[in-house]
Amino acid sequence: MSSTSATESPSTIVQRLGDLKPASPQFNELLKTVLYGRNYADFGSSLKGHEALAFIDILDSALENMQPDSDLYRKGLRALRKICGQTRLLPTTHMLADGLEKSGDMPAASGGFADVWRGTYNGRQVAIKALRIYNTDDLQQVKKLFCKEVVVWRRLSHANVLPFLGVSTAVFRLSMVSEWMSNGNISHYVTTHPEANRLELLIDVASGLQFLHMAQVVHGDLKGPNILINDSGRACLADFGLASITSDPLSVNASTSGATHGSARWMAPELLNPEHPDQDVNRPTEASDIWALAMVMVEVLGGHVPFHEFRNEVVIFKVMAGVRPERPTNAAMTDEIWEMVHSCWNEDPTKRPKISEVLDCLQRTAHPDEYKTTTVFARALVPEPTVIEKKPSSGPIAQPRAAAPQSQKPKARQISEKPNSPGLMDRILKMFGCVPSTR
Ligand SMILES: Nc1ncnc2c1ncn2[C@@H]1O[C@H](COP(=O)(O)OP(=O)(O)O)[C@@H](O)[C@H]1O
Ligand SMILES: [Mg+2]
Repeated sequence: MSSTSATESPSTIVQRLGDLKPASPQFNELLKTVLYGRNYADFGSSLKGHEALAFIDILDSALENMQPDSDLYRKGLRALRKICGQTRLLPTTHMLADGLEKSGDMPAASGGFADVWRGTYNGRQVAIKALRIYNTDDLQQVKKLFCKEVVVWRRLSHANVLPFLGVSTAVFRLSMVSEWMSNGNISHYVTTHPEANRLELLIDVASGLQFLHMAQVVHGDLKGPNILINDSGRACLADFGLASITSDPLSVNASTSGATHGSARWMAPELLNPEHPDQDVNRPTEASDIWALAMVMVEVLGGHVPFHEFRNEVVIFKVMAGVRPERPTNAAMTDEIWEMVHSCWNEDPTKRPKISEVLDCLQRTAHPDEYKTTTVFARALVPEPTVIEKKPSSGPIAQPRAAAPQSQKPKARQISEKPNSPGLMDRILKMFGCVPSTR
């Protein structure tokens, strides 16, 4: 007997789950009752201490036995992310064993709420992303974001996703450890490696994003600085601080996370405009990831950040007024890719292409001879990347085609809704950490 009565307490259910054989029919039935049952919407928050940790470990090991593309898996992952955020606890399997050491006296980089240090883990080169906490008020909020990031990232294993190794409390109070990416981020890499095959790098990025979207994960902060290049010169998606699971009602929104600072150049207009008619929360979606991917395409092929000619605050208004970046002169930006970039920038998120279409377009351009629709279709179904061998970095890139005559180039469209309401500018500036001017 594994179903529950409405009166059964969460702690009794956790106990019963713990007594059942994981993945057995009874276990799955009881877990489903919790994950789908209306009575258990706030299951996690009523569990305390060791009971919460027991449930977290049960959920974590249950996920190991599930198909990642199943609805139950997504429900389970969402529940795990929620309870870990609420309790600031993490599954035991996420903790690294001893052997972590930091190198040097200065962090290699500093981000939103963490510093990134270089280090070693049992002799292996690693990056240690350590929380930077100034006061105890920040601590709880930051720990919550930390736990949510870790839970999602830990489940993402793909050649074009930065490998996550675990969480450690040994060297810093709380840190997440990943493989060290010696070549830095893609924005820096393409400027220091002019010979790099940029189209192949974009195929890596799109493959990583396809994997995420197939796993129903929205990246939420896709941009050059969050794409790292490994020792073999392959691009890996990083920074899952804003990642959410599709339809996750708890996904972090742009205005409260504080993590949007500096990302405006890659952000879709629906995320920039807090007065979007449909939502009071401007939540990242697959469609906003697609917008950001097009900005990354312009960044990588153009060699500088999107809208490099404008300051951050100006970019927001330009985007909302329908202005788009110039076409990069790189031969790899063919007419076909440029058209695809423009469809990714459709004002209407529902009209933007799916990731498989973008990847398809990049593949077709990079490998015009080898490309077969069936191959790419098969790739879209298998969460393993790159079927096609990577060309030597010095080799030829895409067959350049003639640039489109000026008259054929897609024009920047002006949107009808202008950011002219009185308080809107102040709110946008605040959202990006700029002090609104006094009127
Ligand atoms: N595994 C890594 N290897 C090398 N550098 C890294 C690694 N992880 C992060 N970094 C560096 O730290 C920066 C910030 O890391 P990120 O995860 O994006 O944190 P934040 O959420 O603070 O932006 C990156 O842009 C990159 O320069
Ligand atoms: Mg980052």
